[in-house]
Amino acid sequence: MIKLLSHLSHIEITAPDPAASVAYYEEQVGLRAIASEGGKTYLRNWGDYYTYSLVISHGPEPSLAVMAWRTTSDEALDEAARRIEAAGVQGDWHDSGFGHGRSYTFTGPYGHAMQLYWEVERYHAEGRFVSIYPDRPERRSRHAVAPRQLDHVTIAASDVRGFAKWYSDVLGFRIMAYTNLDEGPITVFGVLTTNEKSHDLGVVLDGSTRAGRINHYAFWVDTREDLLQAADVLMENGTDIEYGPSIHGIGEQNFLYFRDPSGMRVEVNTGGYRNYVPDWEPNDWTPSGGSNNFYRNSAMPMSMTESFPPADGPSATEEGVHPDTREALLNPYAKHGQG
Ligand SMILES: [Fe+2]
Repeated sequence: MIKLLSHLSHIEITAPDPAASVAYYEEQVGLRAIASEGGKTYLRNWGDYYTYSLVISHGPEPSLAVMAWRTTSDEALDEAARRIEAAGVQGDWHDSGFGHGRSYTFTGPYGHAMQLYWEVERYHAEGRFVSIYPDRPERRSRHAVAPRQLDHVTIAASDVRGFAKWYSDVLGFRIMAYTNLDEGPITVFGVLTTNEKSHDLGVVLDGSTRAGRINHYAFWVDTREDLLQAADVLMENGTDIEYGPSIHGIGEQNFLYFRDPSGMRVEVNTGGYRNYVPDWEPNDWTPSGGSNNFYRNSAMPMSMTESFPPADGPSATEEGVHPDTREALLNPYAKHGQG
């Protein structure tokens, strides 16, 4: 298959109080709102090469409205749409959108809206935001967390391996790793990528009856010191850190997680390996093997299993849930040494 997708370019989330969310991202995270129109506010990080990477619109609950990837070419956009429709999914073409050209939007088999486009506006800062360096779209910010750019999105799906297989078969994502329960052959997490990063798309197991949910999305900072200082600044300004800072075994990335005013989980991320192997085969990890916590010396808070919008129901697979594994399945990382 020719390479179809380049990277995650933006995500749109909904919030019950978009004004509060926009203010939070501007004041406490360090993004900048660059436009509001049609009920949507467009925000950017200082290092985002395109106009924006986060869109906030109104919705009754926190949710993922759409995740957008840039293709590798105009031809790749047509080929991606052709492959999606050959797989039995029908999407819609739009002539243009804010900051990008024609796009193809579809809802994948697990309920997640995805937008693809090739033509996109590059961002060129003006006035006091101009960098002295020609490759930078904007001068470096030190405001709040000051993320450099959007990094990845992690969704929730009822079948982790089924989700990964569809996006790999149809759109060419490389599947990089899986996490299976220590207690049995149930896959609770997987990571996929369109490029050399360990992942720009993650998937956690979702046993609820609500399709299309999101677990979190992540911004990138340059160094671990930046990440630790971000944790410090968030704490000082009244945002609790839900989990971290620590290092994931999978991807070997430094992480911390917190919540925005809608309850949506946001990650700050840095480090990690580069993997260029075109025929990489995903290895199987376990929580006790350090999939989530490289150091195998903590437990993950139960709140981290919440995805959005909220939903009831245990996590399960089509094989069902054995009573002995039910507790572990709800949060396989909750035991000391597994999270
Ligand atoms: Fe993540």
